[in-house]
Amino acid sequence: MGANGLIPPHGGTLVNLVVDGQRREALEQAARKMPRIQLLEREQCDVELLAIGGMSPLRGFMGAADFHRVCDEVKLANGLVWSVPVTCSTDAGTAERIELGQPVALSDEQDRTLAVLTVEEKYPHDKAKEAEKVYLTTDAAHPGVAVVQSQGEVCLAGPLEVLTPRHEPPFPEHRRTPAQTRAAFAEHGWRTVVAFQTRNPIHRAHEYITKCALEICDGLLIHPLVGQTQKGDIPAEVRMKCYEVLLANYYNPQNTLLSVFPAAMRYAGPREAIFHAMIRKNYGCTHLIVGRDHAGVGKYYGTYDAQRIFDEFDPAEIGITPLRFEHSFWCNKSGGMATAKTTNSSPDERVFLSGTAVREMLSRGERPPAEFTRPEIADMLIEAMRTTE
Ligand code: ADX
Repeated sequence: MGANGLIPPHGGTLVNLVVDGQRREALEQAARKMPRIQLLEREQCDVELLAIGGMSPLRGFMGAADFHRVCDEVKLANGLVWSVPVTCSTDAGTAERIELGQPVALSDEQDRTLAVLTVEEKYPHDKAKEAEKVYLTTDAAHPGVAVVQSQGEVCLAGPLEVLTPRHEPPFPEHRRTPAQTRAAFAEHGWRTVVAFQTRNPIHRAHEYITKCALEICDGLLIHPLVGQTQKGDIPAEVRMKCYEVLLANYYNPQNTLLSVFPAAMRYAGPREAIFHAMIRKNYGCTHLIVGRDHAGVGKYYGTYDAQRIFDEFDPAEIGITPLRFEHSFWCNKSGGMATAKTTNSSPDERVFLSGTAVREMLSRGERPPAEFTRPEIADMLIEAMRTTE
């Protein structure tokens, strides 16, 4: 534990890349005359996380040594565990025109400046390697691989100074930096805090595993991912309303905190579980829930691969403790939530609905059973489907 009783960040120091005062003013002015690179949505999300120290110890987009060692060995060049490349890319023509040592302005899709990158390194983006090693597939139908393929052919790296981590950030009342969640945990006196990563509305299975985890931890951080997700996932605005209602009705506000996680979803399954763990450690969490098919998509990963990957490391180099949960479901035989570990019921006594089946029910205006999702949440999802169609 660190001096303040909290878990130390990955690499020991919480990074802050946001510049202020005169430096900010000078950079803002100078940025108007710099070459400009418009970042993809994932890269913008990465800028925000880098800026606020969510990706500590990273101090900017990765250079070639980090990129290759991360792909090959799940380590940064300095030997610390890191599982996914964090890159800023551009096309070959633009890269050619940028000289080493030159500052470039990184902007969002409305051309608003986010950060200034002083380019010290340009290297070819080995997309095939990233796809194979990190996503375990080169299939362009994989939404994470599709983003890699849409990136430029050249990666740029060097010192990053962030002017504005994100313009007009949504959910400002739920947006806490790692320093802020750490301060909140210290204030509550929580020595152990379990993080819950999610990109879905909280259904009964999610509720069950978060509450099981809370039984053995002082606090619960509900940390929904609100950065880029794939088409078809429920939008963050809808989910946030669901989380608020669920927390107000079914959780204890004394030991549960809702805060947004501004990352892009990579859908990299096991590799992303490690990434989620490192980042949640930076937010001050001591434990992370890793359930069935964590950060998975389609049939690319085995149901428990994202749990097994943690066994490849010494727990000390990971730091945060994964809490592994089996597939949970409502069990009619025992009259409660359960897993195969805690009930001897047969499959037909278990309530299981696939994501597709639930989406179809909701779009027909039909409530999934209360054993699957709380009625308030079902109604909000039905309403959201009705108004977006
Ligand atoms: S994820 O992409 O963020 O992993 P989701 O929001 O569905 O997707 O899952 C959040 C967390 O809950 C993950 O750790 C996932 O493994 C876990 N989880 C989801 N559904 C279940 C379930 N029925 N049983 C056990 N764990 C689950």
